[in-house]
Amino acid sequence: MRSIHLKTPVPGPRSRALAARRAEAVPRGVSQLTPVFVARAEGAVIEDVDGNRYLDFAGGIGCLNAGHREPGVTAALDAQLDRFLHTCFMVTPYESYVRLAEKLNALAPGHTPKKTLLLNSGAEAVENAIKIARACTRRPAVICFEDAFHGRTLLTLSLTSKTHPYKAGFEPFPGEVYRVPYGQPAAQLEDTFARVVAAESVAALIAEPVQGEGGFIVPPPGWLTAVAEICRKHGILFIADEVQTGFARTGRMFAIEHEDLEPDLLVTAKSLGGGLPLGAVTGKAELMDYTGPGSLGGTFGGNPMACEAALAVIRAIEERGLCQRAMQLGEQFRRRALAWKERFPTIREVRGLGAMQAFELADAATTKSLAQYCYEHGLILVTAGTYGNVIRILMPLVVTGEQMDEALDVMEAGLTALVPNAANAGVA
Ligand SMILES: Cc1ncc(COP(=O)(O)O)c(C=O)c1O
Repeated sequence: MRSIHLKTPVPGPRSRALAARRAEAVPRGVSQLTPVFVARAEGAVIEDVDGNRYLDFAGGIGCLNAGHREPGVTAALDAQLDRFLHTCFMVTPYESYVRLAEKLNALAPGHTPKKTLLLNSGAEAVENAIKIARACTRRPAVICFEDAFHGRTLLTLSLTSKTHPYKAGFEPFPGEVYRVPYGQPAAQLEDTFARVVAAESVAALIAEPVQGEGGFIVPPPGWLTAVAEICRKHGILFIADEVQTGFARTGRMFAIEHEDLEPDLLVTAKSLGGGLPLGAVTGKAELMDYTGPGSLGGTFGGNPMACEAALAVIRAIEERGLCQRAMQLGEQFRRRALAWKERFPTIREVRGLGAMQAFELADAATTKSLAQYCYEHGLILVTAGTYGNVIRILMPLVVTGEQMDEALDVMEAGLTALVPNAANAGVA
């Protein structure tokens, strides 16, 4: 049975009416990638307020690896609803925060004892990782990468690379942030220490193991390990930002597990909360314990609903074998996408790791048109890339093989309708 079912042209009348109210009430700086308003969602399917059903290949931008309304998550939330909603962990603590910290400490790669701090978002978690790194090392500088994305708060925006629409107009940014190319020979960092910033001034280097918003850029094998090794040599903390790559997306619980690497600090968010806002910094215990009481935290950080959801998400990933499933889904995508690359010269590259897969097109306009075609035909997906020319997939990992094929059929129909193929472009 097909999952996609469109009753009206999209957006339908109810979505259009809500979009008009949205335009009056919400700043236009909050982007609107698809103009359909959601009524409900389950697994990998979203239904809009006009009764149209879509396959969700955006997953709330990578937040639903365990699926919409994962049954364990909703059961845990129902049970927590009957107990209490908020006390603030810093005032009157509760067990679920501790249990989640224990779980993340156990899951984080490496044998050094770990501790975990819980927050509300990816950006807040990145901010806290930098705070901890600066305090522990008593050094000011941070190294980040071209095409990185680490958030939209002022410090994380300074670490984020893309100027439009993210950074332009929001200057000045916090200082002591130095940007270097991603995936280049790690030894070039030594040159950066000679020519740009002294190694002994650098508190931390922050890297996404696979760049997300930057366009699903996978660095060469061994690169992260080499970078971490140079950091270790200079007393620089290595921060892995696994906000988008974490929780089975790349076929491992964390993408750095593709290498034998223990980061000093591991930043997570997005799919951790199963749809609820939650971020975490999991790090070597001696680093995490460096700053004194009151120096870390926040009113809602690790709120009880989000903690219960996260524990259920991790259970679902483990019990449903979602890491292995991510590898299969990635293969299913790659088989089709590599065949498209032969047919459509406008596809420059198919790339990714596990289920974190994408294809790069020659230009942003075609990419935008393809994403538009897809949503008009029942497939919601988001683009990526500094130049806006990458189609990425972030579907829930509970998507079935049939749903995956259905989504790929829509993408293929879109490519056929919109871009010249090898035959009619005169390319052999
Ligand atoms: C790698 C990475 N880090 C940090 C963030 C920021 O997370 P949030 O939007 O929850 O603040 C994102 C969001 O897309 C991300 O992809």
